[in-house]
Amino acid sequence: MTSLANRHDYLPAAGNDLFLPFYDLLSRALGSTAVHHTLLAQAGIETGHTVLEIGCGTGNLTVLAQRAVPGADVIGTDPDPRALARAERKAPGIRFERAYAQDLPHPDGSADRVLSALMLHHLDAETKAAVAAETFRVLRPGGRLHIADIGGPMTPADGPAARRYLRSEYLRGNLGDALPTLLRAAGFDTEQVLSHPHRTLGRVTYYRATRPGNAGR
Ligand SMILES: C[S@@+](CC[C@H](N)C(=O)[O-])C[C@H]1O[C@@H](n2cnc3c(N)ncnc32)[C@H](O)[C@@H]1O
Repeated sequence: MTSLANRHDYLPAAGNDLFLPFYDLLSRALGSTAVHHTLLAQAGIETGHTVLEIGCGTGNLTVLAQRAVPGADVIGTDPDPRALARAERKAPGIRFERAYAQDLPHPDGSADRVLSALMLHHLDAETKAAVAAETFRVLRPGGRLHIADIGGPMTPADGPAARRYLRSEYLRGNLGDALPTLLRAAGFDTEQVLSHPHRTLGRVTYYRATRPGNAGR
């Protein structure tokens, strides 16, 4: 998705490069930390796992995951070099790589887990489908993609934030069954794990998408 304000071919974390220095403050105030902890608990990362975060932004979930399971190899990826520079400053020694989620530089079947937090609503429909196919490719059979994002079965009854988000063009591809449908089309076995109204994000929905094959490690 092109951000004319910044002339990028991706929508940056805070919507505009100028606001990036405030992203961590803002996202914490919006409740992202609890979302990260919930997603991490669902992911079941173990020692020896290779874990990619797609759209890691300033690296908060990547850092949380690596510190929670020091014996895993956790790699944060994002197309935004400014966000990655912040992540690297925050956590020297943790791996961050510049990459688009629809074009990952990792070999087929090389990841046990892929994490995506509050990222898919930054993508248009075509890119989301490409991301589903690309994460399927990099996951080993039995590997899992874990997603937390704004959307899912969101209705105006979820409150003022939901009513605002329901009007946003970015959210359209995250609403209702759109994400599970897209993930199943890419070949994943997909479940909605949790969905709850959220005071500032409208509604947050969590999905687990498993690449069929060998039992998970
Ligand atoms: C709202 S931020 C979320 C950052 C982080 N996951 C978190 O939970 O704080 C969305 C991120 O998606 C990234 N992004 C946008 N387009 C992307 C793409 N095509 N592939 C991967 N990441 C992308 C942006 O650069 C931004 O860092």
